[in-house]
Amino acid sequence: MKRLNLEKSFEYRKKVHNLIPGGAHTYSKGDDQFPYLSPAAISHGKGAYVWDLDGNKYLDCSMGLTSVSLGHAYEPVLERVRKELKKGVNFQRPSYLEAETAEKFLSLVPCHQMVKFCKNGSAATTAATKLARAYTGRKLIAFPGDHPFYSFDDWFIGKTACNKGIPEEIQNLSVTYKSTDLNTLTKLFEKFPGQIACVISEPEKNHPSQFINIDETIKITQKHGALFIQDEMVTGFKTGMPGTIARNKVMPDMATWGKGIANGFSFCALTGTKAVMELGGILNEGEEKVFLISTTHGGETHAMAAAIATIEEFLKHKVIDHMHSLGEYCSKTLQQVVDSKKCTSFVEVVHCNWMPSFIFKNKTGTADAKLRTLVLQEMIQRGVLFQGILIPSFSHKKSDVDFFAQCFGETLDIYLQALEMGVEKFLIGKECKPVFRKIT
Ligand SMILES: Cc1ncc(COP(=O)(O)O)c(C=O)c1O
Repeated sequence: MKRLNLEKSFEYRKKVHNLIPGGAHTYSKGDDQFPYLSPAAISHGKGAYVWDLDGNKYLDCSMGLTSVSLGHAYEPVLERVRKELKKGVNFQRPSYLEAETAEKFLSLVPCHQMVKFCKNGSAATTAATKLARAYTGRKLIAFPGDHPFYSFDDWFIGKTACNKGIPEEIQNLSVTYKSTDLNTLTKLFEKFPGQIACVISEPEKNHPSQFINIDETIKITQKHGALFIQDEMVTGFKTGMPGTIARNKVMPDMATWGKGIANGFSFCALTGTKAVMELGGILNEGEEKVFLISTTHGGETHAMAAAIATIEEFLKHKVIDHMHSLGEYCSKTLQQVVDSKKCTSFVEVVHCNWMPSFIFKNKTGTADAKLRTLVLQEMIQRGVLFQGILIPSFSHKKSDVDFFAQCFGETLDIYLQALEMGVEKFLIGKECKPVFRKIT
């Protein structure tokens, strides 16, 4: 097979690491997350496709780290954004859109009465933990240690392998439990009685082995006088509308939202009950003020316009139904490919209607970074920008899944050869590395 021309990508790579630490503003977009034979940067996108600097076209499988829920350069969102851009984006007082967007967003989350907007998910999750500490007067933050990411701030990163630069005193203010074993959460409350301010957790993961009993998690948390923060950054606008919260029987005190709610624009939210959220208000004269979220760019008009348009499109077109039927089609089709290639012992298709994903194993049945990187390399060479998941956006069609499946089948032929002859014979460059690691 003729290899892609990646000349401009290689030039870009040579330059960028001298300009930007990590070579990108998001570690999970960095060079160490992709095979050597991959695009270094994207020139533009449209719908479910993106183009690199050399003009190569790829089917996008993770859509801006799952934030581009409708599609790249999606016209109805752009139209609304353009309208606001012409009127100015940031003023001395809030834009009139702040109240409209708040009402629209809260209409999706009936258990919550107040909302604060911001630009990044980390700002939302960190603000939620601050509010919980202020509300309860307690210090500790609890989260599942088996989950990958809740914030780039110290309270979370201090607990990962990548904790350099974060004092131990701060690391000790966060405690962890196992999301799938709620006895560990109960034990945590017993070990630190009256000290845990909040538990923050995603409500749902895509693998059956990662099942979270969210209602029980909330019950245990609230029984011990702590607040529960449901982080719907990934699940929001994917597992349901507005997220898994639509199926909750027990309601979280706060919820955090980001990826997907404004079709890739920088727009995130913290919602919560009035009792908790109004601590961050300014009407309770005489009470101590909580500096909740306050950022210069939090109320940018075009991002709010993007959120309004995204919500309207989701409701008008039943976008969640489209995503779920495509996710099911993808899980089923790709399972057939894996079965037909007799790869079931080596390639696991994680059946999930909102985030089908894949696990690549070696002959001993262990997940294998080199084999995974080989799959990425071969999929990319065939025009699929793949990192182990296929997030169905509103722009993805069945024909895109069919194209993905065809490339996957060809890739599995190489995979089987690599299992026999050694992956080094096929993989060019090094394997992808974990984002959270001690050593660069
Ligand atoms: C579950 C979860 N919470 C919070 C965040 C932080 O969001 P951001 O990257 O916008 O700061 C992420 C980001 O990946 C996430 O996956």
